[in-house]
Amino acid sequence: MDAIRIHGGTPLQGEIVIGGAKNAALPLMAAALLSDEALTLANMPELADISTMSNLLRQLGVRIDQSALGAGEDDPSAGATRRTMTLKTDNIASVTAPYDLVRRMRASVLVLGPLVARHGEAKVSLPGGCAIGTRPVDLHLKALEQLGAKIELKQGYVHATVPKRLKGARINFPMVTVGGTENAMMAAALAEGETIIENAAREPEIANLAECLNAMGAQVSGGGTGTIKIKGVERLNAGRVAVIPDRIETGTYAIAAAITRGNVKLSGTRYDMLDAVFDAMRQAGVSVEDVDGGIVVSAKDRLRGIDVMTEPFPGFPTDMQAQWMALMATADGASMITETIFENRFMHVPELTRFGADVNVHGASAIVRGSAQLSGAPVMATDLRASVSLVLAGLAAKGETLVNRVYHLDRGYERLEQKLAACGADIERVGGS
Ligand code: EPZ
Repeated sequence: MDAIRIHGGTPLQGEIVIGGAKNAALPLMAAALLSDEALTLANMPELADISTMSNLLRQLGVRIDQSALGAGEDDPSAGATRRTMTLKTDNIASVTAPYDLVRRMRASVLVLGPLVARHGEAKVSLPGGCAIGTRPVDLHLKALEQLGAKIELKQGYVHATVPKRLKGARINFPMVTVGGTENAMMAAALAEGETIIENAAREPEIANLAECLNAMGAQVSGGGTGTIKIKGVERLNAGRVAVIPDRIETGTYAIAAAITRGNVKLSGTRYDMLDAVFDAMRQAGVSVEDVDGGIVVSAKDRLRGIDVMTEPFPGFPTDMQAQWMALMATADGASMITETIFENRFMHVPELTRFGADVNVHGASAIVRGSAQLSGAPVMATDLRASVSLVLAGLAAKGETLVNRVYHLDRGYERLEQKLAACGADIERVGGS
C-alpha cells in the first residue's frame, strides 16, 4: 500500500493552484439524475470520491463524458488543467445504490432525493457508522417524507417511493445538515408546488447547488442563506455550471504555508469562503492577504495559540479542525479546539502526539500546548482530514515522516505531493507497508 514520505523543515515558497471542491462536485453530479438532458460541470476535481460517484451514477443509467481542457482554455485565471464532465441520464436504469458503494462514500446517499423525485422510487443502502461519528441520515429521510415520499427501512436499505409526484412542503431542519439540505433541494426542484427549507445549511456548496439547479431551469432562491424557497417545476433541462473552488483544500494549503513558516500564493480560489479560518490564522500571527488572483499566506517564526470552535458555515469548518490542531502544535502557548459537529473527530490526536505534540482531549474539546519543534514519525489516520493533518505536521517536523493509508488523501486532495513538492517540500509517494 502506498505511503507518503516527507523530510520536514523546508519553508514552502511558491504558488499552489486550488481545484474544484469535492463537496460541491458530488451533489452537482447527483443533480444530473433530475433531467434527461445533459448537465455539464466545469472545474471538476480529479479525486477518488469523484470516481466512486461516477461509478454509482453509471450503474443508475447516467452516461458520463470527461474532457481535460488545457491551461486557461475554460477559465483564463486557472493556470492549470481543468476538467469538464458531462452527465446525461436518458433513462434511469436502476434505482439502487448498493451497500458496497455507499459504505465507501457516504455522499452516495445524495442520489436518494433526485431518484425519488424523477423516478418515484429509490433504494439506497443505509451508510452505517463512520470514522468521524455515527452520522445518521434521519433528517434526509424526514425531509423526503414531508415532501410526500413513503420511506421504509428493509434489510439495511432505505426504500423511498412516491406514487405520482412529490409535493412541496415546509421543512424545518432541527439541526443544520449539509447533505440533508442538498437532498431536500434536489427533491423539491421537481415537486408540485412550493417548498420552504428553514434552518438550511448555508455552506457555499449549497449556493453552488442552487446555481446548478437554476441553470437546469429550477426556481430556487435563497441558496446559501438559512431559508431556501423552491418553486417546483415539471421537468428540468440541460444546464452548465462551474464547480466552486475547494475551500478546504485552500485552507489546508494555507496551513501548510503557515506551519512551515513559508510564503505561498493560493490561486484560483476565493477568500470569502474561509473568513473564519483566515481570522483565526491572523490572530495566531499568520499574514493572509487577499490579492489579485488569489491569497498570499506567509508566516515567520513564532505563532500564538488561538482557540477555535467548529460550527456550520460561516463558522470555523469541522473539515479544518485537524489541520488547525497541527498548526497549533507548533505555536506558543495553549489553544483549545472544540468540535461541535461530529462526536468522534479527534482520531488524529494520538497520531499527532507521535510527532511530539502535546494534546489532551476532554470531551468535545482538545487542549493543545504548543511546542517549538515536532519530530517526524511513522503515522496513519482514519479519515481524509485527519490524514492531511499528519502530512502538515510532517512538513513542519524535523526528520522523516511516513504517512500510511494514502487512499484517504486521494479521496479529497488532487496531486497533493506534486503541489507541495512544487513549493519546495521534500515529499514523495512510496510503496508503503
Ligand atoms: C458534509 O457532510 C461534508 N461532506 C463533510 O465533509 C463535512 O464535514 C460536513 O458536511 C459538515 O460540514 C460532503 O459534503 C460530501 P451534515 P454531511 O449532514 O452532509 C448530523 C470531508 O472531510 N446529522 O451537515 O454528511 C451528523 O451526524 C467531509 O470532506 C444527523 O444527525 O454533514 C453531523 O453530526 C467529512 N442526521 C451533523 O448532523 C442527519 O440526517 C452535520 O452533518 C444528517 C446529519
